[in-house]
Amino acid sequence: MPKDFRKLFITRAARIRDAFELLDRSGAGILLLIDGKGRLERTITDGDLRRELLAERRLEDTLEMLPQRTPRTIAPEAGSVEALAVMDEANINQLPVVDDYGKVLALHDRRDFDSRILLSTPHMGKDEFGFVQEAFRTNWIAPLGPNVDAFEQEFCEKLGHKHAAALSSGTAAIHLALRLLDLRQGDIVFCSSFTFVATVNPVLYEKAIPVLIDSDPASWNMSPVALERAFENAKRSGKMPKAVLVAHLYGQSADMDPIMAICDAYGVPVIEDAAETVGTLYKGKPSGSFGRIAAYSFNGNKIITTSGGGMLTCDDPDSVARARHLATQAREPAPHYEHTEIGYNYRMSNILAGVGRGQLRVLDQRIASRRAVFERYRDGLADIGGINWMPEPEWSFSTRWLTTCTINAEIFGMDAASLREALQDQGIETRPVWKPMHLQPLFKGAEYFQHGSASVCDELFATGLCLPSGSNLTDREVDRVIERIREKVCLSD
Ligand SMILES: Cc1ncc(COP(=O)(O)O)c(C=O)c1O
Repeated sequence: MPKDFRKLFITRAARIRDAFELLDRSGAGILLLIDGKGRLERTITDGDLRRELLAERRLEDTLEMLPQRTPRTIAPEAGSVEALAVMDEANINQLPVVDDYGKVLALHDRRDFDSRILLSTPHMGKDEFGFVQEAFRTNWIAPLGPNVDAFEQEFCEKLGHKHAAALSSGTAAIHLALRLLDLRQGDIVFCSSFTFVATVNPVLYEKAIPVLIDSDPASWNMSPVALERAFENAKRSGKMPKAVLVAHLYGQSADMDPIMAICDAYGVPVIEDAAETVGTLYKGKPSGSFGRIAAYSFNGNKIITTSGGGMLTCDDPDSVARARHLATQAREPAPHYEHTEIGYNYRMSNILAGVGRGQLRVLDQRIASRRAVFERYRDGLADIGGINWMPEPEWSFSTRWLTTCTINAEIFGMDAASLREALQDQGIETRPVWKPMHLQPLFKGAEYFQHGSASVCDELFATGLCLPSGSNLTDREVDRVIERIREKVCLSD
């Protein structure tokens, strides 16, 4: 549970001994003396109590004798800069936030202002540096080498894939997946609309046409209902897609059984954009192991990272060999430089693959930590109405890569955008959820198939918020976010 400043409340009826004990138990270094009407009368520190003892007062005396002292406080509207200025001026480390009636709404702690809380930052383990050093020692500073080979193999072992190619990014993996399916100019690709633009950009690289598919409210990912509709329409118009590109978001898989059943029935291959679902399970099987090809990302904000990087996986060894070929400028095996088709510089460096090998070893811990962060938010805000967490259907094991929720402004008292701005002001980074592709100027005019009478992902975009979720967040930091959110609810009452 979050550190609750109400546990620091004490009244004049308490004894000096009680105050010492409470200070000791709470470890907060400050108590809040509250009058009969619940208003803050003054603060009490260890030093205040010791001065009373030096003045010949006894431990069994009550706090009645404590002199009146107007406490330094701050109004709830004040931002972090103002609060820090007051603390600096008064040379104090804690500052009660008090409303017009003198009631305490929160307690600022200087330590909370010293560091910003970011959305999702890299979290290294203990082995990464060793693999990187080995690359330096052996001078394998190249887009190939032993770390690359080992990372591909170890990734396959960890996630149950047959073959993998380590690449410079997740976007590169998606692009190569489309090339492997021989996507051509004018071909159609059915894509999740609710995703990061990197899912769909590679469709544009090939001058193909994205048709955008809405989300399922049960998973926030591609709606099988909208997908079926898109296929029925394609059949009628005779414009079948070359591929279906399914994005799995925020650590949770799409509902793959119905999606695969539909795509198999129409004989269209599936590419899984599993950039955000390294370690996620769908019905016990890894996300990315359902379609023909999968793409993963190790970008700096992901659950495990190589600072930048990606992986393409596929059961067919020839396809993965061809992906490697295309990723190395499609250079033909000749002593001179021979090229017959367009290629790319997409391979992962041997140094970064070393980071990836270390990160793979801590993947399970990172998942457990991210899930624990989510659970702490859920429990700490359980009594606050209007916050709805991203659902985790019974078939899903989400890594909770990002803790995401929607805010019902009427119940919560403010909308997601206002909450984001308010938290930003307190040094806490949150983000809106992805803006759907069909709302992006880049995809203006693209065909879009909704899940039902209203667009699900429009609503998610209007109300969604991603909270700080890093596996390296401390409990104290998560509690700080919880407290700040709770404070906003009190304010908007
Ligand atoms: C859903 C999704 N797809 C694709 C990507 C692209 O991955 P990368 O940044 O490694 O190119 C990302 C992340 O950045 C993503 O979140």
